[in-house]
Amino acid sequence: MTGRKVAIVGAGAVGASAAYALALSGTCHEILLYDIFPEVAIGKAIDIAQATNYAPRGTIVRAAIKPEDLSECDVVVITAGVPRKKDMTRADLLNINAGIVKEVTEYIKEYSPNAIILCVSNPLDVMTYVVHQVTGWDRNRIIGMGGALDSSRMSYQIFQKTGFGAAQTRSIVIGDHGENMIPYPEVTGVGGMPLTQILSKEDIADIVDKTKNGGAEIVKYLKTSAFYAPGRAISFMIEAILSDEEKVIPSCAMLDGEYGYTDITVGVPCVIGANGVEKIIELDFDEDTKAKFAKSVESIRENIEILRDGGFFDKL
Ligand code: LAC
Repeated sequence: MTGRKVAIVGAGAVGASAAYALALSGTCHEILLYDIFPEVAIGKAIDIAQATNYAPRGTIVRAAIKPEDLSECDVVVITAGVPRKKDMTRADLLNINAGIVKEVTEYIKEYSPNAIILCVSNPLDVMTYVVHQVTGWDRNRIIGMGGALDSSRMSYQIFQKTGFGAAQTRSIVIGDHGENMIPYPEVTGVGGMPLTQILSKEDIADIVDKTKNGGAEIVKYLKTSAFYAPGRAISFMIEAILSDEEKVIPSCAMLDGEYGYTDITVGVPCVIGANGVEKIIELDFDEDTKAKFAKSVESIRENIEILRDGGFFDKL
């Protein structure tokens, strides 16, 4: 891959934090920030570009003003969407964000037809499904970012208990990026040591619980959702793609028979490289995990059906 050009659509806190983390990593030649409010994209692009003066390698950071500026990108990140407001139903939110994601995806399809798309908009698993439907691309080229963030939250909770091995902790969280997410202690380790042999059942249950509430905890304090950890998780995934690292990262992928499911986007352990999802790793779930996974898939399907019932997919 030569260009190493990345566009981030949505220059809100998550998109800008992703651009900042990516710029400091020195992985790309160029980062474009796009927003429906061009002033926001321009202002943040200037600020981040100035930060690169002290980065290990140079990165060009600019605002994309028109959709056609999003041309020939290697990776495009979609963070656009609105948060749920008090008077909105779940169906309202789904329809509004699906509409936004559809519009953005159509630009990407037209101007960056060879890109890998990293979807971050919420509800994550459903929006990733929308991107698949709108593009019709090979399934490996569309990835949802949920598991990478939830896993960083699980690692944080593990360190709160152990007090050691922070940068050596490899957590795995699968399922949806929502209420039914599945922190997976049986395949999580600290410095290669299985978590289940380091901590008690009670401690692990507490970690699972706190991981599931990881996003909500931040909202409680900030009255807005997280952005630094999401931003870093996005840049970590882009680095894996652009450097063709073949890294194991739990990600939202389209299943086609894996785990016994088809036509559903859900978080599973994936190998991430230059082609996006290079491989889905099929673990041998025990009965409990199978049941949790089924529930998680069901919750995503229910939301996809709300869009389907509203005729969303008929208009593609
Ligand atoms: C969160 C949102 C950003 O989990 O999805 O914090």
